[in-house]
Amino acid sequence: LYVPTIVVKKEDNRHLLFALSLQVTHYKQYPPNTSKVYSYFECREKRTDPSKSRKVKYDKTVFYGLQYILNKYLKGKVVTPEKIQEAKEVYREHFQDDVFNEKGWTYILEKYNGHLPIEIKAVPEGSVIPRGNVLFTVESTDPECYWLTNWVETILVQIWYPITVATNSREQKKILAKYLMETAGNLEGLAYKLHDFGYRGVSSQETAGIGASAHLVNFKGTDTVAGIGVIKKYYGTKDPVPGFSVPAAEHSTITAWGKDHEKDAFEHIIKQFPNVPVSIVSDSYDIYNACEKIWGEDLRSLIVARSADAPLVIRPDSGNPLDTVLKVLEILGKKFPPLENSKGYKVLPPYIRVIQGDGVDINTLQEIVEGMKKHRWSIENIAFGSGGALLQKLTRDLLNCSFKCSYVVTNGLGVNVFKDPVADPNKRSKKGRLSLHRTASGNFVTLEEGKGDLGGDQLHTVFQNGKIVKTYTFDEVRDNAQLTESDY
Ligand SMILES: *[C@@H]1O[C@H](CO)[C@@H](O)[C@H](O)[C@H]1NC(C)=O
Ligand SMILES: *[C@@H]1O[C@H](CO)[C@@H](O)[C@H](O)[C@H]1NC(C)=O
Repeated sequence: LYVPTIVVKKEDNRHLLFALSLQVTHYKQYPPNTSKVYSYFECREKRTDPSKSRKVKYDKTVFYGLQYILNKYLKGKVVTPEKIQEAKEVYREHFQDDVFNEKGWTYILEKYNGHLPIEIKAVPEGSVIPRGNVLFTVESTDPECYWLTNWVETILVQIWYPITVATNSREQKKILAKYLMETAGNLEGLAYKLHDFGYRGVSSQETAGIGASAHLVNFKGTDTVAGIGVIKKYYGTKDPVPGFSVPAAEHSTITAWGKDHEKDAFEHIIKQFPNVPVSIVSDSYDIYNACEKIWGEDLRSLIVARSADAPLVIRPDSGNPLDTVLKVLEILGKKFPPLENSKGYKVLPPYIRVIQGDGVDINTLQEIVEGMKKHRWSIENIAFGSGGALLQKLTRDLLNCSFKCSYVVTNGLGVNVFKDPVADPNKRSKKGRLSLHRTASGNFVTLEEGKGDLGGDQLHTVFQNGKIVKTYTFDEVRDNAQLTESDY
């Protein structure tokens, strides 16, 4: 009988195994006498066939998450004799050959006390940068360690995830801002219009923490508490917490009362929370009956007595999202007559609101706010919750995040390198040393082949030989990512 041994060591994620298998053997593959490898990260833009296929173009990305990766995985003493030994053994079995660069890692251990001799320059966290520009560069700082640049690729490219969550969440903020302006004339409450419901739907606790923190770059409402820990530990905020929530019912707290007692459940729950907003899922049996009979008649007096700071928030949770929202608003509008705002749109009385948290992604969000506008409902009436689509239904391909070598030094000579595959011009990479600059019109442009060496580079050194040399607070990240009027 084979009994697997599970060895739980004291937590240390910073082993030498975080490169792809293929990268492990690369030190043997560069041209002889290579003394520097310089690589960069970008979210490629489409050179051919712009826009057409996708509804949302994502033409700018929010740069976020490098500080987490650097702190968690790359800073300080990363190499120890034990880790070298461990990696050597695992890779020997994995490749059935001694291909691990033991000599190279021992050199780093001895010469740098295990700190990584690389330099990383990056655009400030939270920056909103058009696709196709350099976002960070990585270079080896010791000629013996040229191979290290692309060893760290795997861990660094995982930044695609916080970048993609933050970018997709910001695009949704743009939609909400646009429709709020059109139907209400102001952006009040925007920061709470898209609530993170994604905790259960993500692949792991680490994903939850990173993804939720990325959403909080743009919004303040979250149920994915793990994000708060990530922000406090790796960025820091002036507020005690960067994200907020309100008491909310789930189906179990309603159905536990039994089918004939939905009204009692509702009544009990709203009475528990008289002074804060309370969200009550109302589709356990029949959302329309709940809105019309229970909320609209049986419990009406309790609801109209609530203040604007403590509204009842009705949550439908099934059916076609747009149809359901419109029908719920229509029923509620008959029982709680709406006012007309300065833009001529209907707003339910301030003590009652709706939250749609089922089936919400960037496309359905757009459909719902457009449908509400058509039916003359202000976006003031609603907030959204999004889970899987916010934190998990995303891939590295959405923004074409990629890391490529653009410059090497061989035999003392700098060479600009690039790829340009014949079958896909979109995959052409940039050449030489790169820098990012602002144009007179406030746009961004990447200069290649060292042409920007004279100054004005928007990339700043954040990591040097094992030390983090520049950090950003979460407040700075949020400021950098703020919407501007041209966004909506
Ligand atoms: C590498 O450098 C050494 C020492 O300068 C030189 O003798 C050798 O020819 C170089 N190898 C190649 C392939 O350029
Ligand atoms: C981005 O990735 C998608 C999916 O792989 C691909 O269809 C598209 O051509 C890529 N775009 C660029 C600019 O590389």
